[in-house]
Amino acid sequence: MKPTIVSSLLALACAGVATAHGGDLLNQGCRPIAKRSLDLQRRQLTQSGGEGQTVTAGGGASAARYSCDPNTCKLPKCHCADTNPPGGLDPKDVPQFIVFTADDAVQDYTINSVNQFLAQRKNPNGCTPVMSYYVSLNYTNYAQVTELYVNGNDVADHTMTHQEQPATNAEIDGNLITLNALAGIPYKSIIGYRAPFLNYSRANLEHLANTGFTYDSSSTASVPVTDPNTDAFWPYTLDNGMANDCSSVADICGGQPKLPGFWEIPMYAIFDQRGAAGAHLMDPWLDSSNASDVLSWMKNTFTDHYNGKRQPFGVYTHPIHLAKGYPGLTDPVDQINMLNEFLDWATTSADMQNVWIISNKQLMAWMQNPVPASQLNTLDAFKCQKPNAGHICNGFQENNDLLEHCISNTAGDALNNSPFYTCYGCPVTTPSPQQPNPPQKNNDKSVRTRIPANCDTAFWDPINARCTCNGSGCAFDDSTRPIGPNGSNLTSSGSSNTGSSSGSSPSASSDPYRTFGSGAGRTTSSSVFGWAASVVAAAVGGAMMVFI
Ligand SMILES: *[C@@H]1O[C@H](CO)[C@@H](O)[C@H](O)[C@H]1NC(C)=O
Ligand SMILES: *[C@@H]1O[C@H](CO)[C@@H](O)[C@H](O)[C@H]1NC(C)=O
Ligand SMILES: *[C@@H]1O[C@H](CO)[C@@H](O)[C@H](O)[C@H]1NC(C)=O
Ligand SMILES: *[C@@H]1O[C@H](CO)[C@@H](O)[C@H](O)[C@H]1NC(C)=O
Ligand SMILES: *[C@@H]1O[C@H](CO)[C@@H](O)[C@H](O)[C@H]1NC(C)=O
Ligand SMILES: *[C@@H]1O[C@H](CO)[C@@H](O)[C@H](O)[C@H]1NC(C)=O
Ligand SMILES: [Zn+2]
Repeated sequence: MKPTIVSSLLALACAGVATAHGGDLLNQGCRPIAKRSLDLQRRQLTQSGGEGQTVTAGGGASAARYSCDPNTCKLPKCHCADTNPPGGLDPKDVPQFIVFTADDAVQDYTINSVNQFLAQRKNPNGCTPVMSYYVSLNYTNYAQVTELYVNGNDVADHTMTHQEQPATNAEIDGNLITLNALAGIPYKSIIGYRAPFLNYSRANLEHLANTGFTYDSSSTASVPVTDPNTDAFWPYTLDNGMANDCSSVADICGGQPKLPGFWEIPMYAIFDQRGAAGAHLMDPWLDSSNASDVLSWMKNTFTDHYNGKRQPFGVYTHPIHLAKGYPGLTDPVDQINMLNEFLDWATTSADMQNVWIISNKQLMAWMQNPVPASQLNTLDAFKCQKPNAGHICNGFQENNDLLEHCISNTAGDALNNSPFYTCYGCPVTTPSPQQPNPPQKNNDKSVRTRIPANCDTAFWDPINARCTCNGSGCAFDDSTRPIGPNGSNLTSSGSSNTGSSSGSSPSASSDPYRTFGSGAGRTTSSSVFGWAASVVAAAVGGAMMVFI
């Protein structure tokens, strides 16, 4: 890591925004980067300090005082931390996954940014890659979260307000409640968590497991896979505690915390020529002013994974840092081209086969059922299907004329900080950990009905309050997990949420970030997320669905 370069880039990025926009919108993008870089640095320093508690001699697992018996810890419910691929697979039969993740707000800039890298690509099965988006509330346009979800992406929890301290339960639960209420995502589909600034605690892991999340992905694998002491474990369940971050997070490792069936997906670092001393985690393109340098780090690290045990390779982004057209900032053209060059190289080189760009949710599906690369397309999580549910407000871009644009009448309400649209009825005020599901605003006297616990987003018509399809492909038995303290009654609301109705009509604000569609006929500049080209028609439960 080159701290001087990092901090100068950050100063530039934040200064530009502060000047142009009073510093509000990019808070979300600037501060997390600075913190994350420092945080990773701290971990590396601890390691090279060789205090003896770190992942050093004896191997990552034993240094973590980690032990796990693969004869009793078996898939799909249990998996030991291991550098070898799951299922006893030979590395040459294992797909080389590139896990693509994005963090923080979801808005035009971030969706467009991600689309630069993924929208034009196809995985080996012809499907457009999907990714994991760790969503926090501030500056997020919930209609675009719905869009991400119905297009197959892993929408995951990154807390509501993105604090520096390890999250409170209310920050984690509140984000879930808001994603369910205002982005219309079933609780059972939100399975992942990443801590703001990667700053998690043992209590966070315990809460996530108790709350029914499937995985956390906040920990770091910061020893190269070529090092015999690497901590680049394949994802593992916490039946036997954590095996990563043993020196940097309190009260974990040594068998703790024991959270049966709850998975940890380490974030796999990228290394420069210094090896373990030169680890880069999120947004590695911010760590050198020379994009060619970063490209070589990425290629070299990727090659080590591919030629070794094929642990996933991570592309961990804050999409705002790769966004074009952001007011006051120069487009990061070299970095954008570099990342596309890397992905082209990794996915199309003749001497590398079975390279897939995936989400962490797909990685979870494969870990629990680790088929050889040749059978990857048999897993539902890797298929691509577009349901044709007609003209209902369901997150597909062609139905955006049915969205509501939410504006608060209260001066200073954070709801007005950036465009906020939803299918599911505008809240009277911006959600908060104390009030994650505010009453529904009702200016035009119509009330939207929020998604019930037994219908999926693509099929739920919030205007007419019906599940437009009740076959096996869209309706499901309610497997809503309990969330909140003591697993209390905080499940999907289902029925209409009638709140106070406000007499005055909202006035359009002069918000400069409103690039999202505003009203009938306009579409967003956002989604180019596509679906596979193959067309399959299938009748599900009597309702016709077209798979494009
Ligand atoms: C997010 O917004 C809330 C107010 O809505 C604010 O208290 C909090 O500091 C914001 N977080 C960040 C990271 O800007
Ligand atoms: C992480 O949280 C701890 C409190 O547990 C705090 O002391 C530390 O400053 C935080 N780290 C970052 C990078 O914000
Ligand atoms: C950038 O790095 C590459 C090698 O990684 C080097 O060949 C090139 O000269 C560097 N460019 C600059 C401007 O330093
Ligand atoms: C399925 O939906 C159709 C039309 O919406 C409805 O007539 C039928 O009763 C539903 N079947 C079940 C089992 O809910
Ligand atoms: C959770 O349950 C415990 C024990 O039943 C109780 O003491 C506590 O008050 C409960 N907490 C909440 C927030 O309901
Ligand atoms: C669950 O929520 C419903 C609706 O808010 C309420 O009527 C019911 O009493 C709650 N049940 C429990 C056990 O808290
Ligand atoms: Zn973040």
